[in-house]
Amino acid sequence: MTTLTDTTTDTATEQFRAHVIRGLQLKEKKISSRYFYDDEGDRLFQKIMASPDYYVTRAEEEILRDQTDAVLAALINGHEQFSLFELGAGDGTKTKHLLRAALDKGKQPTYLPIDISEHVLEELGDALKEEFPTLQYEPMQGEYFDAIKRGFSDRPGPKAVLFLGSNIGNLDRKQAIALLKGVSEHLGPNDRFLVGFDRKKDPATILRAYNDREGHTREFNLNLLRRMNTELGADFNVDRFIHAPVYDPLSGRALSYIVSTTEQTVIIPGADGPIHFEAWEALHTEISQKYDKPMIDDLAAHAGLRRTATFTDSKEYFRCVVFAPNTKAQQPT
Ligand code: TRP
Repeated sequence: MTTLTDTTTDTATEQFRAHVIRGLQLKEKKISSRYFYDDEGDRLFQKIMASPDYYVTRAEEEILRDQTDAVLAALINGHEQFSLFELGAGDGTKTKHLLRAALDKGKQPTYLPIDISEHVLEELGDALKEEFPTLQYEPMQGEYFDAIKRGFSDRPGPKAVLFLGSNIGNLDRKQAIALLKGVSEHLGPNDRFLVGFDRKKDPATILRAYNDREGHTREFNLNLLRRMNTELGADFNVDRFIHAPVYDPLSGRALSYIVSTTEQTVIIPGADGPIHFEAWEALHTEISQKYDKPMIDDLAAHAGLRRTATFTDSKEYFRCVVFAPNTKAQQPT
């Protein structure tokens, strides 16, 4: 039977709905962290990044701010003209250090952030134009690999690719290798790839970063439930769920869970029937991998990369690792 409705079926919303329904029907419930970032999610993530308990952003920025010249040299090795690609745009706070240093030295960088959001790219462009009127800005809207394929050909000078914010840590090992490999396949011998890795450290420090005392991360996680209510017409009673992150120092994985504090059912329009939660049943939402050196070397070896430089912050919380392509790649095991 077909019914006419006055609601237009938005593809993104329907993909979100299909993902959520599939994830909530699994024996171990899960929803991808990709869906954290609606407007409210973006706003909450800004607050996380500014919060005293979330050390990740500050540690990485310290490296790019205090070791700018050394990082720049590791990326472009003295060349005057180069292209700086970035996977994910953000607000550019960290990348600006590199751009400023290059422009101050009279170099000619082209900056090419790649992001799925046209809006984020425009905002970043406006901010950069104000601060660096002579900067060549070529934003690329789309998926990372497509954009790299499109953007990599016929560029003067070496290419450097940035993947910051420990975003690599939000992928499992297989996905992380696939991402690194997808970039490394396009790199020439003079091209470099800088990846920001959050290091293993005191488990209490890590747990605090994902359970900040101001409660921004809690709101960020629970916003996923609110988002399902507003966008999908679900009926989550948010007061009956809690944010419950854990950190396992053996595997180095910080995991975010939303836990149901009571037995309850939730309706999601489009699902076969009500979704049942047992009391204290967990819904997995995010993985944030923390790395030691062998783990970074393992990823690199399987992605066809070799390490050419490593930078760390004063507290040794974070590593910015620069890679070059390695011709002897191993197959994933
Ligand atoms: N890339 C960030 C990180 O892993 C994303 C992040 C920070 C995050 N806090 C979070 C994701 C809380 C989910 C929940 O540190």
